[in-house]
Amino acid sequence: MNVPILNLKAQYQALKAEIEPRLLETAASQMFVLGSEVEALESELSTLSGTACAVGVSSGTDAILVALMGLGIGPGDAVLTTPFTFFATAGTISRSGARPVFADIDPATFNLDPARAEEALAAFRKKEPGVRVKAVLPVHLYGQCAEMDGFTALAGRHGLAVIEDACQAVGADYPSAAGVRRACSIGTVGALSFYPTKNLGGFGDGGMVLTNDPGLGSRLRRLRVHGGKDQYIHEEIGGNFRLDALQAVVLRVKLRHLADWQKKRRTVAEGYERKFTAAGLVEKGWIVPPTAVYRDSGAAEFHTYHQYVVRAADRDKLQAFLRENGVGTAVFYPIPLHLQKCFAHLGYGEGDFPVAEKAAKDVLALPMYAELKDEEQDYVVERIAAFYRR
Ligand SMILES: Cc1ncc(COP(=O)(O)O)c(C=O)c1O
Repeated sequence: MNVPILNLKAQYQALKAEIEPRLLETAASQMFVLGSEVEALESELSTLSGTACAVGVSSGTDAILVALMGLGIGPGDAVLTTPFTFFATAGTISRSGARPVFADIDPATFNLDPARAEEALAAFRKKEPGVRVKAVLPVHLYGQCAEMDGFTALAGRHGLAVIEDACQAVGADYPSAAGVRRACSIGTVGALSFYPTKNLGGFGDGGMVLTNDPGLGSRLRRLRVHGGKDQYIHEEIGGNFRLDALQAVVLRVKLRHLADWQKKRRTVAEGYERKFTAAGLVEKGWIVPPTAVYRDSGAAEFHTYHQYVVRAADRDKLQAFLRENGVGTAVFYPIPLHLQKCFAHLGYGEGDFPVAEKAAKDVLALPMYAELKDEEQDYVVERIAAFYRR
């Protein structure tokens, strides 16, 4: 049996009849950049995320970059973030001219730990008193929100902006002490990605930047089009960060199915946990299923399982065995960012963030999508059990 890590063709077959006529309508209109479909998508995602403003942009990477630009973060500034994330999180900080300052993660969730972030802030301020730490940029990794109350308190104590990298967590809930909040509505500003493999994925690149601050929202809108308020009048320098109408058309169709898909993903996640436990893999410590820390909080979207990531004993050999047995897996992420060559100038080294470094050696993402069949999941679990029992 072959079980890919993701099966976008199955999703497309189910949506073909809904999507194709709308794509043809857009082709006939010859209106391809921004426009009414993008505006409608912005409004729908504002509602979903609980924000006043949403600005459709060209990718998740550009959503983070434009958020940093909109907050006036640049040369001479620094931003606290996690070393255990996709490259874009810290890559954009550097591209803005600011400096990433890393702190270690929580071993249960793989998300940036607020207490470690505060320690890193204190150490950095002592070492580099001339550099202003302007923001903290937690990532809602794998579809589960970071511990945002901790970051809100940290930001309040130190006068920081909070940028949520929600590129993997569209629609995820966070049970804050003040009530349940949605990803992108908790910090100062949040970023989404519509890369095809995301829970809400387009037919190419796309992203969105969302905020409850209307002044920041207007600035983000200007920065999206080269900083121009009116055509050919530029008061500041932005970029071409526009979202295509064709992407908005696809995303609007998919958005109608998102709640159902998230529910199915949670069912798949529960199935894995039940089957791993029944097979004795958890008890033996061979497989550690993901910890859904907000499961009993009452928040419906406590984890959106963008990725279903376990810790696995002898991870690399297991991955090779699964590949030979037709099971697709992936490692998100094999090298923490503080050990990437392009960040060598930041002066970090091996051993600086042991929790992130250990995670990079242990994690394995398994097949996860709404269309995953029970028998396919049984096969994945049976093959994993076969590997450990050899
Ligand atoms: C955590 C995280 N941040 C940022 C990005 C960048 O998004 P994009 O690929 O749409 O530029 C991604 C997705 O790829 C991501 O997973």
